[in-house]
Amino acid sequence: MAVGINAMAVTFVAHALAVIAAIMVLFWSISYRGGLAWEAENKNLIFNLHPVLMLIGFIILGGEAIISYKALPLEKPVKKLIHLVLHAIALALGIWGICAAFKNHNESGIPNLYSLHSWIGIGVISLYAFQWVYSFIVFFFPGGSPNLRSGLLPWHAMLGLFAYILAVGNAALGFLEKLTFLENGGLDKYGSEAFLVNFSAIVTILFGAFVVLTVSAKSPSSSPPIDDEPNYSYSAI
Ligand code: HEM
Repeated sequence: MAVGINAMAVTFVAHALAVIAAIMVLFWSISYRGGLAWEAENKNLIFNLHPVLMLIGFIILGGEAIISYKALPLEKPVKKLIHLVLHAIALALGIWGICAAFKNHNESGIPNLYSLHSWIGIGVISLYAFQWVYSFIVFFFPGGSPNLRSGLLPWHAMLGLFAYILAVGNAALGFLEKLTFLENGGLDKYGSEAFLVNFSAIVTILFGAFVVLTVSAKSPSSSPPIDDEPNYSYSAI
């Protein structure tokens, strides 16, 4: 299924939304929440690493990894390498971001894994890691048989998109949860910080929507297959 819209054009909107979302989460963490630190007396600074790494590292880089495969006008092996390296960086930064949340909880005496957000978060990162490892083995090294690869490609695309949409939804849940904690602690519900956090979630969801739109859009090039892998992309689903 391919939507009749040029993938390359859609990616420009996605990149712009990515930049806006990154600036918003950095501005929030630094200007409103006191900054970022791995070691600090003020444990909130350790927590602040969590939304920054999850949004910029996991959601934005993960989205760029998905977009790159579909929209870059490059040869398939180059796109494959960019796709898997960007996903590896997104996964590593996502794991670091989750470690920051655990570190903040452990050093502040807060229990771990009590919320829906945290359960979905563990599910999403595990699914993402599972997806990356089997895909590396089957599609990159040592590589499966052509039959196995063509059979698994639609599953890879569908599971990857499912994990990604779940991650975007969970990031919105994280923003909501943190803002609710802050408002319960006295933060003005109609104040500038509340608007900043809510709009960060909205921009994140819009970015996710444009990533999904990119993968459903027409590929810029319809180059013939250059190896024994079928030449269909995410539009195969
Ligand atoms: C897809 C991206 C995200 C994933 C996979 C994720 C995952 C997690 C996990 C696993 C925890 C549990 C840590 C623990 O129990 O010690 C957690 C905690 C938390 N996260 Fe996220 N997170 C994401 C994005 C965000 C964002 C963008 C925010 C926005 C502020 C956020 C806010 C929170 C808050 C407030 C907690 C502490 C309360 C709780 O455990 O639910 N998260 N996150």
